[in-house]
Amino acid sequence: MALSNRNPRPIAQTNPRSPITEAYRTVRTNVQFASVDGDVRVILVTSSLPSEGKTATACNIAVVSAQAGKRVLLIDADMRKPQVHQRFQVSNLYGLTSVLIKERSFEECVVESQTPGLMVLPSGPIPPNPYEMLASKMFSDFILSCKEKYDVVIVDSPPILSVADGLMISRSADGVVFVVDAKKTNRAHAKKATLALQQVNARILGVVLNRLEKKVAGEYYYYNYYSSGEPASV
Ligand SMILES: Nc1ncnc2c1ncn2[C@@H]1O[C@H](COP(=O)(O)OP(=O)(O)OP(=O)(O)O)[C@@H](O)[C@H]1O
Ligand SMILES: [Mg+2]
Repeated sequence: MALSNRNPRPIAQTNPRSPITEAYRTVRTNVQFASVDGDVRVILVTSSLPSEGKTATACNIAVVSAQAGKRVLLIDADMRKPQVHQRFQVSNLYGLTSVLIKERSFEECVVESQTPGLMVLPSGPIPPNPYEMLASKMFSDFILSCKEKYDVVIVDSPPILSVADGLMISRSADGVVFVVDAKKTNRAHAKKATLALQQVNARILGVVLNRLEKKVAGEYYYYNYYSSGEPASV
Protein backbone atom coordinates (compact mmCIF):
# COMPACT_ATOMS: atom_id res chain seq x y z
CA MET A 1 0.00 0.00 0.00
CA ALA A 2 1.30 3.43 -0.89
CA LEU A 3 2.29 5.45 2.12
CA SER A 4 1.12 8.99 2.55
CA ASN A 5 3.99 11.44 2.57
CA ARG A 6 2.28 13.76 4.99
CA ASN A 7 1.64 11.11 7.59
CA PRO A 8 4.11 8.28 7.11
CA ARG A 9 4.07 5.22 9.30
CA PRO A 10 5.99 5.64 12.56
CA ILE A 11 9.73 5.57 11.94
CA ALA A 12 10.19 3.01 14.72
CA GLN A 13 8.13 0.66 12.55
CA THR A 14 9.67 1.47 9.17
CA ASN A 15 13.23 1.91 10.38
CA PRO A 16 13.80 0.17 13.72
CA ARG A 17 17.56 0.70 13.58
CA SER A 18 17.62 4.41 12.89
CA PRO A 19 19.13 6.78 15.48
CA ILE A 20 15.71 8.40 15.84
CA THR A 21 14.15 5.08 16.77
CA GLU A 22 17.01 4.64 19.22
CA ALA A 23 16.10 8.03 20.72
CA TYR A 24 12.52 6.82 21.19
CA ARG A 25 13.93 3.77 22.97
CA THR A 26 15.75 6.14 25.29
CA VAL A 27 12.45 7.89 26.00
CA ARG A 28 10.86 4.54 26.80
CA THR A 29 13.72 3.54 29.09
CA ASN A 30 13.59 6.86 30.90
CA VAL A 31 9.85 6.54 31.37
CA GLN A 32 10.49 3.11 32.88
CA PHE A 33 13.07 4.58 35.25
CA ALA A 34 10.66 7.36 36.18
CA SER A 35 8.16 4.72 37.21
CA VAL A 36 10.30 2.65 39.56
CA ASP A 37 8.28 3.63 42.61
CA GLY A 38 4.89 2.86 41.13
CA ASP A 39 3.09 0.90 38.50
CA VAL A 40 3.04 3.21 35.48
CA ARG A 41 1.02 1.55 32.77
CA VAL A 42 -1.19 4.26 31.35
CA ILE A 43 0.82 7.05 29.76
CA LEU A 44 -0.76 10.18 28.35
CA VAL A 45 1.18 11.90 25.58
CA THR A 46 0.39 15.57 25.29
CA SER A 47 1.80 19.06 24.62
CA SER A 48 0.80 22.68 24.97
CA LEU A 49 -0.32 23.51 21.43
CA PRO A 50 -1.17 21.83 18.08
CA SER A 51 1.40 20.18 15.81
CA GLU A 52 4.20 19.80 18.34
CA GLY A 53 4.62 16.07 17.73
CA LYS A 54 2.24 14.38 20.18
CA THR A 55 0.97 11.79 17.72
CA ALA A 56 4.43 11.03 16.33
CA THR A 57 5.73 10.56 19.88
CA ALA A 58 2.79 8.43 21.04
CA CYS A 59 2.99 6.15 17.99
CA ASN A 60 6.75 5.68 18.19
CA ILE A 61 6.83 5.05 21.94
CA ALA A 62 4.05 2.50 21.44
CA VAL A 63 6.04 0.74 18.69
CA VAL A 64 9.34 0.60 20.60
CA SER A 65 7.55 -0.65 23.73
CA ALA A 66 6.01 -3.51 21.73
CA GLN A 67 9.38 -4.21 20.09
CA ALA A 68 10.75 -4.61 23.62
CA GLY A 69 8.27 -7.43 24.21
CA LYS A 70 5.49 -5.56 26.03
CA ARG A 71 1.80 -6.03 25.32
CA VAL A 72 0.90 -2.52 24.22
CA LEU A 73 -2.35 -0.70 23.46
CA LEU A 74 -2.23 2.67 21.70
CA ILE A 75 -5.45 4.65 22.13
CA ASP A 76 -6.31 7.69 20.03
CA ALA A 77 -8.12 9.91 22.52
CA ASP A 78 -7.74 12.97 20.30
CA MET A 79 -11.38 13.11 19.31
CA ARG A 80 -10.92 16.55 17.76
CA LYS A 81 -8.26 15.74 15.19
CA PRO A 82 -7.61 11.98 15.25
CA GLN A 83 -4.47 10.92 13.40
CA VAL A 84 -3.35 7.58 14.84
CA HIS A 85 -5.39 5.57 12.31
CA GLN A 86 -3.63 7.40 9.48
CA ARG A 87 -0.17 6.67 10.88
CA PHE A 88 -1.00 2.98 11.09
CA GLN A 89 -3.18 3.07 7.99
CA VAL A 90 -6.17 1.43 9.59
CA SER A 91 -9.86 2.28 9.41
CA ASN A 92 -11.34 4.85 11.77
CA LEU A 93 -14.90 3.71 11.22
CA TYR A 94 -15.08 2.33 14.74
CA GLY A 95 -12.92 3.07 17.74
CA LEU A 96 -12.83 4.62 21.20
CA THR A 97 -16.02 6.64 20.69
CA SER A 98 -17.88 3.53 19.47
CA VAL A 99 -16.81 1.68 22.64
CA LEU A 100 -17.80 4.57 24.91
CA ILE A 101 -21.29 4.87 23.44
CA LYS A 102 -21.57 1.04 23.50
CA GLU A 103 -22.12 0.86 19.77
CA ARG A 104 -19.34 -1.72 19.43
CA SER A 105 -17.31 -3.81 21.85
CA PHE A 106 -13.63 -3.07 22.45
CA GLU A 107 -12.72 -6.35 20.72
CA GLU A 108 -14.64 -5.27 17.62
CA CYS A 109 -12.83 -1.92 17.45
CA VAL A 110 -9.23 -2.67 18.40
CA VAL A 111 -6.94 -3.55 15.49
CA GLU A 112 -3.62 -5.30 15.17
CA SER A 113 -0.72 -3.19 13.98
CA GLN A 114 2.16 -4.41 11.85
CA THR A 115 4.28 -4.52 15.00
CA PRO A 116 3.67 -7.75 16.93
CA GLY A 117 2.35 -6.99 20.40
CA LEU A 118 0.99 -3.57 19.48
CA MET A 119 -2.77 -3.13 19.24
CA VAL A 120 -4.31 0.15 18.11
CA LEU A 121 -7.66 1.62 19.12
CA PRO A 122 -8.49 4.44 16.69
CA SER A 123 -10.62 7.34 17.90
CA GLY A 124 -13.71 6.25 15.99
CA PRO A 125 -16.17 8.81 14.59
CA ILE A 126 -15.71 12.36 15.90
CA PRO A 127 -18.39 12.99 18.54
CA PRO A 128 -20.15 16.31 19.19
CA ASN A 129 -19.09 16.22 22.87
CA PRO A 130 -15.50 14.92 23.23
CA TYR A 131 -14.90 16.46 26.65
CA GLU A 132 -18.08 14.96 28.13
CA MET A 133 -17.13 11.55 26.76
CA LEU A 134 -13.66 11.75 28.30
CA ALA A 135 -15.11 13.02 31.59
CA SER A 136 -17.53 10.08 31.82
CA LYS A 137 -17.19 7.19 34.23
CA MET A 138 -17.44 5.02 31.14
CA PHE A 139 -14.05 6.38 30.00
CA SER A 140 -12.25 5.99 33.33
CA ASP A 141 -13.67 2.47 33.74
CA PHE A 142 -12.62 1.65 30.20
CA ILE A 143 -9.03 2.75 30.86
CA LEU A 144 -8.98 0.65 34.03
CA SER A 145 -10.08 -2.39 32.04
CA CYS A 146 -7.33 -1.75 29.46
CA LYS A 147 -4.80 -1.55 32.28
CA GLU A 148 -5.69 -5.11 33.25
CA LYS A 149 -5.16 -6.44 29.71
CA TYR A 150 -1.98 -4.64 28.64
CA ASP A 151 1.48 -3.94 30.06
CA VAL A 152 1.52 -0.45 28.58
CA VAL A 153 -1.34 1.79 27.44
CA ILE A 154 -0.28 4.88 25.47
CA VAL A 155 -2.92 7.58 25.02
CA ASP A 156 -2.66 10.27 22.32
CA SER A 157 -4.53 13.50 23.05
CA PRO A 158 -5.26 17.06 21.93
CA PRO A 159 -3.10 19.97 23.15
CA ILE A 160 -3.54 21.12 26.75
CA LEU A 161 -3.91 24.85 26.04
CA SER A 162 -6.49 24.33 23.29
CA VAL A 163 -9.06 22.15 25.03
CA ALA A 164 -9.54 20.61 28.48
CA ASP A 165 -9.58 17.03 27.14
CA GLY A 166 -5.94 16.30 27.97
CA LEU A 167 -6.32 17.41 31.58
CA MET A 168 -9.38 15.19 31.89
CA ILE A 169 -7.57 12.18 30.39
CA SER A 170 -4.64 12.75 32.75
CA ARG A 171 -6.93 11.79 35.65
CA SER A 172 -7.04 8.25 34.28
CA ALA A 173 -3.33 8.14 33.40
CA ASP A 174 -0.48 7.06 35.65
CA GLY A 175 1.90 9.54 34.07
CA VAL A 176 2.37 12.08 31.31
CA VAL A 177 4.97 12.41 28.58
CA PHE A 178 5.04 16.09 27.61
CA VAL A 179 6.17 16.99 24.10
CA VAL A 180 7.98 20.22 23.36
CA ASP A 181 8.79 21.34 19.83
CA ALA A 182 12.38 22.55 20.07
CA LYS A 183 11.84 24.94 17.16
CA LYS A 184 8.41 26.26 17.99
CA THR A 185 7.17 25.79 21.53
CA ASN A 186 7.24 28.96 23.52
CA ARG A 187 8.56 28.60 27.06
CA ALA A 188 5.56 30.41 28.59
CA HIS A 189 3.12 28.07 26.85
CA ALA A 190 5.01 24.97 27.95
CA LYS A 191 5.08 26.29 31.51
CA LYS A 192 1.37 27.12 31.49
CA ALA A 193 0.47 23.66 30.19
CA THR A 194 2.71 21.76 32.63
CA LEU A 195 1.36 23.86 35.52
CA ALA A 196 -2.19 23.04 34.47
CA LEU A 197 -1.24 19.35 34.46
CA GLN A 198 0.33 19.61 37.89
CA GLN A 199 -2.77 21.36 39.22
CA VAL A 200 -4.83 18.28 38.39
CA ASN A 201 -2.15 16.13 40.05
CA ALA A 202 -0.79 14.68 36.83
CA ARG A 203 2.65 13.15 37.12
CA ILE A 204 4.97 14.36 34.39
CA LEU A 205 7.33 11.48 33.67
CA GLY A 206 9.48 13.27 31.13
CA VAL A 207 9.73 15.81 28.38
CA VAL A 208 10.34 14.87 24.76
CA LEU A 209 12.20 17.59 22.93
CA ASN A 210 10.98 17.10 19.37
CA ARG A 211 12.59 18.49 16.20
CA LEU A 212 15.85 19.06 18.02
CA GLU A 213 18.85 19.65 15.76
CA LYS A 214 21.29 16.77 16.08
CA LYS A 215 24.29 18.90 16.97
CA VAL A 216 22.68 20.19 20.16
CA ALA A 217 21.04 16.90 21.13
CA GLY A 218 24.05 15.72 23.11
CA GLU A 219 24.06 18.81 25.28
CA TYR A 220 20.37 18.50 26.00
CA TYR A 221 20.79 14.96 27.22
CA TYR A 222 22.76 16.38 30.13
CA TYR A 223 19.65 18.26 31.18
CA ASN A 224 17.64 15.07 31.16
CA TYR A 225 15.60 15.94 28.15
CA TYR A 226 14.94 13.35 25.54
CA SER A 227 15.34 13.96 21.85
CA SER A 228 13.27 12.36 19.16
CA GLY A 229 15.59 13.65 16.45
CA GLU A 230 15.31 15.97 13.53
CA PRO A 231 14.20 13.99 10.49
CA ALA A 232 11.31 14.30 8.11
CA SER A 233 9.94 10.82 8.68
CA VAL A 234 8.63 10.46 12.20
N1 LIG B 1 10.73 15.54 14.59
C1 LIG B 1 10.00 15.78 13.51
N2 LIG B 1 10.59 16.01 12.33
C2 LIG B 1 9.89 16.24 11.22
N3 LIG B 1 8.53 16.26 11.17
C3 LIG B 1 7.87 16.05 12.31
C4 LIG B 1 8.55 15.79 13.54
N4 LIG B 1 7.61 15.59 14.51
C5 LIG B 1 6.42 15.73 13.91
N5 LIG B 1 6.56 15.98 12.60
C6 LIG B 1 5.49 16.21 11.61
O1 LIG B 1 4.78 17.38 12.03
C7 LIG B 1 3.38 17.20 11.89
C8 LIG B 1 2.74 17.32 13.27
O2 LIG B 1 3.16 16.23 14.06
P1 LIG B 1 2.14 15.43 14.94
O3 LIG B 1 0.91 15.10 14.17
O4 LIG B 1 2.86 14.30 15.57
O5 LIG B 1 1.82 16.56 16.00
P2 LIG B 1 0.62 16.66 17.03
O6 LIG B 1 1.15 17.39 18.21
O7 LIG B 1 0.03 15.32 17.25
O8 LIG B 1 -0.41 17.57 16.24
P3 LIG B 1 -1.97 17.82 16.61
O9 LIG B 1 -1.96 18.83 17.72
O10 LIG B 1 -2.52 18.34 15.32
O11 LIG B 1 -2.54 16.50 17.02
C9 LIG B 1 3.17 15.83 11.26
O12 LIG B 1 3.03 15.99 9.85
C10 LIG B 1 4.45 15.08 11.60
O13 LIG B 1 4.75 14.07 10.64
MG1 LIG C 1 -1.91 14.61 17.12
